Amino acid sequence: MDNIINFKLKLWRQAGPKEEGKFVTYDSQELGMEVTTDTSFLEMLDILNEKLIEKGEEPFVFDHDCREGICGMCSLYINGHPHGPAQGATTCQMYMRRFKEGETITVEPWRSAGFPVIKDCMVDRGAFDKIMQAGGYVSIRTGAPQDANAILIPKEKADEAMDAATCIGCGCCVAACKNGSAMLFVSAKVSQLALLPQGRPEAAKRAKNMLAKMDELGFGACTNTGACAAECPKQISISNIARLNREFIKAKLSD
Ligand code: FES
Repeated sequence: MDNIINFKLKLWRQAGPKEEGKFVTYDSQELGMEVTTDTSFLEMLDILNEKLIEKGEEPFVFDHDCREGICGMCSLYINGHPHGPAQGATTCQMYMRRFKEGETITVEPWRSAGFPVIKDCMVDRGAFDKIMQAGGYVSIRTGAPQDANAILIPKEKADEAMDAATCIGCGCCVAACKNGSAMLFVSAKVSQLALLPQGRPEAAKRAKNMLAKMDELGFGACTNTGACAAECPKQISISNIARLNREFIKAKLSD
């Protein structure tokens, strides 16, 4: 194979939530890892784990599921970027050709008070489920499916709602934010419903409750630095945060 790539991996290793973590460096050549530039980043970590297990060492723990950019499970902070250097892509959609021969690749977990480390680079993102349970749904009875034209929705609104709905809830926005804020996530979930007539009846309650839960769970406030939108693998627009703020102010004024 002529497209073999050699590199060093500086991985965050932490045995448990209460243990002290530290970086451990692995050399792909010393471990005998056969990784090509066409190997995906997560496949590369699988190869590393095979080698660690062969040596009787603990495998490196990281989250993953679909491996095609849909589920939002993969969550590695690579070389200073959540999901790594690729724009508009998740960790699982990134390939080793992104890195240079001999490069040291630093891998850390999402760091936020809202996402405690479980082990190594796996964090507990259950806080996002709690925020969703606080209002990220429509609870009214919508009855049987409507005729296509029974509720008219302008195309621009439908498109904006659909764009907001592409948020996969990976938590990258929190990891990118210096305040550890979850505003981009919450704003996408509020927007996808607030833009549609079916979501309007509960819009005020939804914005207030989801934001209150976000604060309660230890996520920081938004100071409009925009790192969240710049790093988001689904390129969720920061304009959703402006919409969330409008929804919240309207809700407060009508209290
Ligand atoms: S593993 Fe599903 S989005 Fe990456």
